[in-house]
Amino acid sequence: MNIELEVSMEIAACIFDMDGVIVDTARFHFKAWQRLADSMGIPFTEAQNEQLKGVSRVDSLDRILQWGNLVLGNNKKIELMNLKNKWYLEYVEEVNPSDMLPGVPQFLAELTEKGIKIGLGSSSRNSVLILELLGITSKFDTIIDGTKIHLSKPNPEVFLRGAKELRFEPSACVVFEDAISGVEAARAGGFPCIGVGDSTILSMANAVVPDMQGMSVQRMTEILH
Ligand code: BG6
Ligand code: MG
Repeated sequence: MNIELEVSMEIAACIFDMDGVIVDTARFHFKAWQRLADSMGIPFTEAQNEQLKGVSRVDSLDRILQWGNLVLGNNKKIELMNLKNKWYLEYVEEVNPSDMLPGVPQFLAELTEKGIKIGLGSSSRNSVLILELLGITSKFDTIIDGTKIHLSKPNPEVFLRGAKELRFEPSACVVFEDAISGVEAARAGGFPCIGVGDSTILSMANAVVPDMQGMSVQRMTEILH
């Protein structure tokens, strides 16, 4: 048995975060949160936004309110989350298959061809909509999103549920993540994790690539071993 085959047999599945890995929607979340923070007079920087990546809508709002030293009741918080989501949905309205991040369509095709299962592990409650807009829903063997989990990343629930549905051990499922919270979630769940983005920010990942360009089964196995 050659080495490549042996290694790729160990990797039974890939579980992808969505925002910032499959599609560049992370900037729309940022834009919408920034607009909300601005409307409340709360300063909100890109560095703070890094801490919101991967984090659920309600936990993100709680962090922003904390930064602004604001305590609000539940009804007001729901109103603010709805407003943020309304803006976000306006921004993503025109998302289409050409918005998939470079390298993603080819990699998904290769995984399908090689029989490596594909899962989604996203905190977003808008995942189904975004995957539909991208036209890739049917590529996924399992879709675990913000509507199916109770605990937000950095808790590993989203990835553990994905692995369970795919019927593989976490160690056989490679997670692709662009968020600090997501990398932490993957590692806490016992998943090998490839960070997508800045290696200084995603230092807890097993390996980091700047983006998904050129990602392949061979490259994935090489950088993880
Ligand atoms: C994550 C994003 O994928 O989903 C976060 O990285 C976002 O920025 C979270 O807050 C929840 O998304 P949504 O679409 O349910 O508000
Ligand atoms: Mg992300």
